[in-house]
Amino acid sequence: MEKHIVTLPGDGIGPEIMQSAEAVLKAVGEKFSHQFTTESHAIGGNAIDQFNDPLPEQTIEACEAADAILLGAVGGPKWAGGQLRPEQGLLKIRKHFNLFANLRPVTIFNSLESSSPLKQSIVHGSDLMIVRELTSGLYFGQPSERRDGGQSVVDTLTYTRGEIERIVRKAFDTASVRRKHLTSVDKANVLESSRMWREIVNEISTEYPDVTVEHELVDAAAMKLITNPSYFDVIVTENLFGDILSDEASVITGSLGVLPSASINDKGLGLFEPIHGSAPDIANENKANPIGMILSAAMMLRYSFGMNEESAAIEKAVEEVLAAGYKTSDLNIENGTNLTTTEMTEKIISSL
Ligand code: NAI
Ligand code: MG
Repeated sequence: MEKHIVTLPGDGIGPEIMQSAEAVLKAVGEKFSHQFTTESHAIGGNAIDQFNDPLPEQTIEACEAADAILLGAVGGPKWAGGQLRPEQGLLKIRKHFNLFANLRPVTIFNSLESSSPLKQSIVHGSDLMIVRELTSGLYFGQPSERRDGGQSVVDTLTYTRGEIERIVRKAFDTASVRRKHLTSVDKANVLESSRMWREIVNEISTEYPDVTVEHELVDAAAMKLITNPSYFDVIVTENLFGDILSDEASVITGSLGVLPSASINDKGLGLFEPIHGSAPDIANENKANPIGMILSAAMMLRYSFGMNEESAAIEKAVEEVLAAGYKTSDLNIENGTNLTTTEMTEKIISSL
């Protein structure tokens, strides 16, 4: 297969880890006889420096012509306090491409269980996926404003039936190729929007008879996520709930540097990025952990190109390298061997 990928390295460690992802993709292409072409464009702080715009028109046009988008990270102290902010580029690209489904897998590698702030017995075996609605709900509802000269305030939680249906379908599809267990998280004891969400989940569940569905209130789900994370397979939820739960879930692994994410629209276009930021404190030192970025490329292969075997090969290579005790400085593996970004990338490629 031939696939064209736009890379948006961004700021800080972004360019370093993007090089790692590109090297891994090249190796996967050779091994499985695919041709991946890449084309790099500006986003974030470097785009402000070059074009005075965190998401320049030529970046959008290039992304429109791409089969998938890989993003490093944006931001840094250099642009803090300025009128143009790097993060505006991120919000704008999500909205422009209508990337409504945010998929965040949280997998604990056996070799990283000791880096978790939770007990090893609790995190062991955790392997869950949070499917968060990303372009509607409380973060986008109008009106959102101060009223009565600042004496009151309003935010609005709106969803259309179509918006709920498409994210719920995405979650069922995701669950049906995993352990077939879907937990829909809402606040149906209080919110009308949650009661409609629940109804729609129940309706759509009839199309997926082999997926077990349950409803959980968001406060209870937040507790269960840290007391019994291995209980969950796929969680689907509204934008705000998903924002909070996905950050909570990411600390289960104790390692920001290894977690990927995907944001997908209904035309099959996806943007794939690690969950961490631009880590300006370690930029240009060849110290960054490239695994979150490399696993984001693996998600791209699976979710945008349907290359399940290729994706699994990358995940297996990462697992093997960690199991052999190789690490970057952010990871806590007892008696592990510390590697640079480029060395870690090479180890993963040779394991492939
Ligand atoms: P951060 O995720 O960049 O860094 C937090 C800590 O984790 C730092 O000590 C950093 O060195 C470490 N770290 C993160 N990724 C790592 C990796 N791959 N390997 C090794 N260590 C790693 O979050 P922080 O410091 O709050 O934000 C830095 C900048 O990144 C800010 O400008 C922020 O706005 C931006 N940011 C961008 C995001 C994105 O592009 N999606 C997401 C989060 C923050
Ligand atoms: Mg967040």
